[in-house]
Amino acid sequence: MTRLSSSLASAAAAAALYSSGVSAQKLVFAHVVVGDTASHNQSTWENDIKLASAAAIDAFALNGGYPDSNIPIQVANAFAACEALDNGFKLFFSFDYLGGGQPWPATGDNSVASYLANYTKSSCYQNYNNLPFVSTFEGTKNIDDWAPGGSIRSAAGDVYFVPDWTSLGTSGITAHLDNIEGFFSWNMWPDGANNLTDDGDKAWQSAIGSKSYMMGVSPWFFHSGSSSGTNWVWRGDDLWADRWQEVFDVDPQFVEIVTWNDWGEASYIGPFVSDNEVPTTSAPYVDNMPHESFRDFLPYYIATFKGSNFTISKDQMQYWYRLAPAAGGSACGVDGNDPDQGQTEVDPNTIVQDKVFFSALLTSAATVQVQIGSNSPTQFDGSQGLNHFSQPFNGQTGEVTFSIIRNGETVGNGTGAAITSSTSLSNGCTNYNAWAGSF
Ligand SMILES: *[C@@H]1O[C@H](CO)[C@@H](O)[C@H](O)[C@H]1NC(C)=O
Ligand SMILES: *[C@@H]1O[C@H](CO)[C@@H](O)[C@H](O)[C@H]1NC(C)=O
Ligand SMILES: *[C@@H]1O[C@H](CO)[C@@H](O)[C@H](O)[C@H]1NC(C)=O
Ligand SMILES: *[C@@H]1O[C@H](CO)[C@@H](O)[C@H](O)[C@H]1NC(C)=O
Ligand SMILES: *[C@@H]1O[C@H](CO)[C@@H](O)[C@H](O)[C@H]1NC(C)=O
Repeated sequence: MTRLSSSLASAAAAAALYSSGVSAQKLVFAHVVVGDTASHNQSTWENDIKLASAAAIDAFALNGGYPDSNIPIQVANAFAACEALDNGFKLFFSFDYLGGGQPWPATGDNSVASYLANYTKSSCYQNYNNLPFVSTFEGTKNIDDWAPGGSIRSAAGDVYFVPDWTSLGTSGITAHLDNIEGFFSWNMWPDGANNLTDDGDKAWQSAIGSKSYMMGVSPWFFHSGSSSGTNWVWRGDDLWADRWQEVFDVDPQFVEIVTWNDWGEASYIGPFVSDNEVPTTSAPYVDNMPHESFRDFLPYYIATFKGSNFTISKDQMQYWYRLAPAAGGSACGVDGNDPDQGQTEVDPNTIVQDKVFFSALLTSAATVQVQIGSNSPTQFDGSQGLNHFSQPFNGQTGEVTFSIIRNGETVGNGTGAAITSSTSLSNGCTNYNAWAGSF
């Protein structure tokens, strides 16, 4: 109910702005790795869209590398599903200039212009300011393709172009502002054993001036998908809670949640479909490690980002943690930070903290309790609204029970997966991925 009324309110606000010729509507997208949808069919896509819609996400950014034989089939399935549902959810392209090993051709068969020409006419295509919204992952050798009057806009018509060209740096983007309508920064995980601040977002906002800013939000990051190359971890921990507060502070035009389904980087918030969609080396780290509960607070976070009042009609909690201390297994070659991106390599076990992370959305003040196994519980004072806490493992093991207690009565509770003293993976490796639950 709340979500419906807030989306009606924002639709009315958008209509009012539209009639004055200005579109200031804020939107939230989720990044879908189309290369990881090999087992999808139209009904799988319909399920994804229904779940994303229920979480108040506006559209999927369809990320695809070149060349990739999955892309034409799964893009067609995604649009067919979206059009059949016809529930207001949208799709747009995010052309990945690195993921497939080759840059996207601007024109010709299977090119950027060809995808835009075939799909921007769909009722499901995301428009902004009356133009098809388009994004990228990198592509800094192809900047000229996107110039006004350049090959793509000449062949496929004008677009609302919001690339992630983060590798240019804030000084490098300024020479290319005529080619973009907005900018997306991929810098959404901290370097080393640190929290992420939003200083980087504000630096990008300042560098792009009047162009719109798209901010990235991610719950977690553990790249386990390389069988021979680098695998690495960046700090997730409190990030999901902290980053949404940074969204409210930065107040960008768009937010992209990274990701819906990147199993190989453990940043997913969507449903698991099949091991066929998971990189082989990542399967042990992803199996039985659901992240769908990260979506539970999105209606609150997204309504707040859009400036609507979200009525908290029930007490909710979401919680996430690794299932063993980092030192309870072997690092198995995982780096802390990514040296391939020029970062200083650090011990991965210094990056992740052996803690249980949990947030509570409360109808009114209450005690929030966490209990690991049969150890004594710890209580925290929760206020009406959003609360976020963490609790170190401190060597404790067992299932984790979370409770909301008000006037001496347990008004909500849930039990999360057990923490063990050493890794439960048969390969003896530490799992740097998190398990997430909620009630
Ligand atoms: C679509 O894929 C799902 C998941 O793999 C499967 O359960 C379902 O039977 C498929 N539906 C069709 C119509 O093929
Ligand atoms: C676009 O549609 C044409 C005509 O149906 C088709 O030949 C082409 O392969 C399509 N291109 C893409 C990228 O879908
Ligand atoms: C990192 O963030 C967490 C959660 O917001 C906070 O409790 C902690 O104090 C922060 N650490 C530092 C060093 O700022
Ligand atoms: C939200 O509610 C507060 C308190 O009732 C009110 O002051 C504020 O104007 C409301 N904001 C919106 C966007 O409705
Ligand atoms: C959850 O709360 C109910 C109701 O108070 C209680 O009966 C049950 O024991 C609680 N479960 C846990 C795991 O605390």
